[in-house]
Amino acid sequence: METKLKALREQVEAAISSVQSKEELSAFWQQFLSKKGRIQDLMKVLGTVPKEERPAMGKLINEFKEQVSARYEEAAQKLEELELEALNRSEQVDITLPSRKRAPGALHPITITKNQMIDVFAGMGFKIFEGPEIEDDDHNFTRLNVAKNHPARDTQDTFYIAEDILLRTHTSPGQIRVMDSEKPPIKVLVPGRVFRSDSDATHSPMFHQMEGLVVDRKITLCDLQGMLDEFSRKIFGDSVKTRLRPSYFPFTEPSVEVDVSCFECGGAGCSLCKGTGWIEVLGGGIVHQKVLENCGIDPKEYSGLAFGIGIERIAMLKYGINNIGLLYENDLRFLKQFKD
Ligand code: PHE
Repeated sequence: METKLKALREQVEAAISSVQSKEELSAFWQQFLSKKGRIQDLMKVLGTVPKEERPAMGKLINEFKEQVSARYEEAAQKLEELELEALNRSEQVDITLPSRKRAPGALHPITITKNQMIDVFAGMGFKIFEGPEIEDDDHNFTRLNVAKNHPARDTQDTFYIAEDILLRTHTSPGQIRVMDSEKPPIKVLVPGRVFRSDSDATHSPMFHQMEGLVVDRKITLCDLQGMLDEFSRKIFGDSVKTRLRPSYFPFTEPSVEVDVSCFECGGAGCSLCKGTGWIEVLGGGIVHQKVLENCGIDPKEYSGLAFGIGIERIAMLKYGINNIGLLYENDLRFLKQFKD
């Protein structure tokens, strides 16, 4: 029995010192320590040993089993440590590597222009209101005093979604929505997208406008001129002058077109102002009495001014952009030229 034990001890040592993985460790356990293992086999042999020798033999075998178990535990712990070390090594981050650079984003020129415009009017006390891009005929046309047979209703210009539902062709329906929900004094800006079936170098089927509406007692064309003077100087430069030309809009009376003196040539005449010295920038006027009445505001007590500015037009003039399409292509070489 003792020689058997000795041989087995040598086998155990050889086996345990060659264990490299969890699988091998488990195979070791199967081979020596399990119920079908070699140590259990010794127990069976114990039955054939003379009775008097059995206790001493049993003790020897048990001690041996404990030693093998201890060797097994030791190996298991060592394996665990090795595994952890390998994991740590594989997850190590080299913090000395230079990071990947990401170019900072920037605002789109339309957003930059829109923000600048809002800043100017916010300084005069205007609040912002945003109406829906899908409008009904009533808000977009009828209550703005645009008669049923007016050319602006022509399907050529307007994208209809259903009989009386359309993509707003201007931000002016915002006037109606504001006057429906607020009583004078009113001072709002309505920025947003508008849609018209029109496309060339200076027109796009989708573009942006900013509407202005002021309703109070004794509002006159002078107030409009004063505000737009201030606006033009802040946007195009201090030396810029404005002039009003008579125009026509169904929802304003009188209506005006506002020109600024050419900031490129100072009024002498150049290609930007087409030799006239003036550049048209927006439309406006005194809110038509019928529009006030349509919103339940008494035109004998109150009057209003309104204007509509094309944001793309201002951006193109300011930055010297000659094709509106450039604003929608999202070509980074173009967009990177604009700084807030
Ligand atoms: N809504 C007009 C347009 O789109 C502009 C405008 C607004 C004119 C307000 C007068 C008053 O052309």
